[in-house]
Parts: sequence; C-alpha cells; structure tokens
Amino acid sequence: MELQDAINQRHSIRQFTDKPVEKKTITKIVELAQRAPSWVNSQPWQVYCAMGETLQKIKDAYHEQDIAGKQGNSDLPVMSREDWAPQTQANMKQWRSGIVHHFANFDVAHENMTNASITLYNSPVILYITIPKASPDWSIFDAGLFAENIMLAATAYGLGTIPTYNSVRFPTILHQTLGVPEDERFIVGISLGYQAGTTINSYHSERRPVDEILHFN
Ligand SMILES: Cc1cc2nc3c(=O)[nH]c(=O)nc-3n(C[C@H](O)[C@H](O)[C@H](O)COP(=O)(O)O)c2cc1C
Repeated sequence: MELQDAINQRHSIRQFTDKPVEKKTITKIVELAQRAPSWVNSQPWQVYCAMGETLQKIKDAYHEQDIAGKQGNSDLPVMSREDWAPQTQANMKQWRSGIVHHFANFDVAHENMTNASITLYNSPVILYITIPKASPDWSIFDAGLFAENIMLAATAYGLGTIPTYNSVRFPTILHQTLGVPEDERFIVGISLGYQAGTTINSYHSERRPVDEILHFN
C-alpha cells in the first residue's frame, strides 16, 4: 500500500468484528512503528498488548467502574472543553455535529457512540503505550509519533484502529491486569482489529482547509 493511501484510509474504527489478529502481525506492526524518531533516540515507549481473557478482564473491570459511576483518572490530565483554545473548540464542535448528521438523528448517534464506548469498541486487541514517569514532555510527543506509526502500519495490514483516552481512563486496573510497573504511565490505548461494516465506521471526520493551518513566510 502507498503511504498516501494509508494516511488517507486511516480513520477511527469504533466497532470491530470478533476475528482475532495474529501475534505475528501485531509484532510486525510494532516493529515497523519502532522506526519512529524520538528525542536523542530515547525510544521511551513500551507496548502492552491486551487480548483474549486479559482484555476481557479489563473490559469487565471498566464496566464495573462505569456502573459505579466512577470518573476516569487517566495519567495524562483531561482539560475541560471550555478551557481549550477557540479554534480547537470549534473543530471539536464540528466533529460532534458531523457524527450526528452521519446518523439519522442525535439520539441514534448518541446510542451508537455510547455502545461503542462502553464495550471498548469490541476490539480483539488493545495496544497500550506507556512511557516512564521520569520523562520530559518530549517523550509524550515521541509516543504520539510511535502511535501514529502503529496505526498507519496496521492500515497497511488491512486492520482498523482507534487511539483512545477511553481505554486508559483507569490506570490502576491496567497496572494490575497487565503487570505494568508503577514507574510507567499510560499515554494511550490503540484498539486494533478487523473493522465491522457498520455506519459508525463509515464516518470520516473533516479537516480544516490547509491554508487555515499552513503559514508560509
Ligand atoms: C489521544 C487521542 C484520544 C482519543 N480518545 C478517543 C476516545 O476516548 N473515544 C473516541 O471515540 N475517540 C477517541 N479518539 C479519536 C478521535 O476522536 C479521532 O481521532 C478524531 O475525531 C479524528 O478522527 P479520525 O481518527 O477518524 O481521523 C482519540 C484520539 C486521540 C488522538
């Protein structure tokens, strides 16, 4: 697959089929992603692959937290929407309205998104990316480059992905279930698998016109 095609085809998949992904394929994807650049080649990332019973345990534990009405407590803080810069708020608003228009109405969109979210997208695999707690902000940037490489490589292998805050909302559960040392923090979880042919997956989010974000001097 051409790189341009992988970049254009990648979009967030919010419902996966039950078809498992071979460990061999996951290994190849992560190995390719390791080509990402990082500050002085520090390669701050670790990847914890949750699948099968382990992933089910995480999904069940998350579900219990949701039923108990527990708020997420991710390692990277979440900022209230009103505090974001006006342009970014406008982009988020546009995304939400795009989703609603993609479905019949607000209620159907809300139901689909909620179901997708509480089931962690039914993905057969989640790749959890961590970095050491002893890291500069640059390592978060590096982890982002690594994450995008994973998603592009997965696209080239015919797989769908979604990076989510949703999957890293409860780090305590993740440390326990995945045996992740306490001196690491969770940056993002990437759900991985074969995409279901459903309406939720055919939504392609928009981008601002390039001349609004590219400034030649
Ligand atoms: C760091 C990060 C966290 C995200 N968390 C979620 C999430 O919790 N739930 C969700 O539905 N989408 C999540 N997304 C996906 C974004 O909504 C999506 O990338 C954005 O709308 C652009 O759409 P696209 O990925 O289809 O191009 C997240 C994306 C990123 C980069």
